[in-house]
Amino acid sequence: MFLNRLNLTNFRNYENQCINFIKGINLFVGDNAQGKTNIIESIYLSSFGKSYRATKDVEMINLNKDFLRVQLDYNKKNIDNKVEIYIDKLNKKIIKKNEIKIKKISDYIGEIPIVIFSPDSLDIIKGSPSKRRNFIDMICSQISKSYLICLQEYNKCLKLKNSMLKKDIVDKDYIFVLHEKMSEYIVNIVKYRKKIIEKILEKAKIIEMNLTNNKENINLHYNTDFSNLEKKEIKDILDEHLYIELLRKSSVKGIQRDDISIYINDLEVEKFGSQGQNRTAMLSLKLANFEVLKDIIEEEPILLLDDIMSELDENRINFLLKYIQNYQSIITTTDSKFVKDIDNINILKVLNGRLEI
Ligand SMILES: Nc1ncnc2c1ncn2[C@@H]1O[C@H](COP(=O)(O)OP(=O)(O)O)[C@@H](O)[C@H]1O
Ligand SMILES: [Mg+2]
Repeated sequence: MFLNRLNLTNFRNYENQCINFIKGINLFVGDNAQGKTNIIESIYLSSFGKSYRATKDVEMINLNKDFLRVQLDYNKKNIDNKVEIYIDKLNKKIIKKNEIKIKKISDYIGEIPIVIFSPDSLDIIKGSPSKRRNFIDMICSQISKSYLICLQEYNKCLKLKNSMLKKDIVDKDYIFVLHEKMSEYIVNIVKYRKKIIEKILEKAKIIEMNLTNNKENINLHYNTDFSNLEKKEIKDILDEHLYIELLRKSSVKGIQRDDISIYINDLEVEKFGSQGQNRTAMLSLKLANFEVLKDIIEEEPILLLDDIMSELDENRINFLLKYIQNYQSIITTTDSKFVKDIDNINILKVLNGRLEI
């Protein structure tokens, strides 16, 4: 699949901007605070129906306007499609695909598969467990609608449980009923996370070896309390921990505690990784993410690379550019000096919410 055209209306510092994409590398160059990341964010919004950096949708509306509209034309299996997102100051949000309103976001996610690299991607290596879960959840959700629904339903139950745990008088039977439902979701979520982590590892090993002249062997270990358990066993674990949860007034067991340990040559990279190793591991995992997504959905995801070239040395940049050359990517950078002998590239200048012609 590939993106054809993006139309931004009142999106952040863009009032009215049309952007045409080529099938190869689309490079947006500009100084800081000109609107490069905003372009990436609008494509992310078109894919996930929400932003990865705004806490509220309305933040994305141009400060002087009452609504925003993002239109993205894309081609999938030789058919032209378009998605349109409208958000207004009253918090109304409408997502339409080919003029038809999307009722549930779970019916839509996965339609425009993306892989995003940003300076924050290093958090997969160095950040809290939630960053690693999010990395896996983003992949799983784009591949499997039922995974996304299980995760959404699980999170709803967890929210209800946590608010019950905070009450002075706790209805334990109500929590046992929630555990019944949660354990069913956990079975599916853990199975799927496990499968995808295995696939990511398979791909990441090869990429990591290529990136390091066969010097570094990457390994992943999925840490969960619920590996290979049946629903009944999972419910028992949840029920057994209720007494601690009542004392702490918060949940202690669940897949919201899952994590992935990442190793390079048998050392945990979070604790022992050098800066260079962290960056290499991040690249390997993200490119593995791209490959797994591509293989399973049988479409080429769009690569969004926001300001990461400045984080990488020449070797890693060359590896990355060579790798992505055959796919469609949207790249932002303040400095385009790394562009040498690259085919299939379109360079656009960004200045204060406008593209310079
Ligand atoms: N809701 C908004 N309305 C108008 N301008 C905005 C809004 N949100 C952010 N901006 C402006 O967008 C610019 C930052 O854009 P960004 O894409 O993050 O820059 P960069 O080119 O550094 O990636 C800033 O000038 C900021 O003031
Ligand atoms: Mg930026």
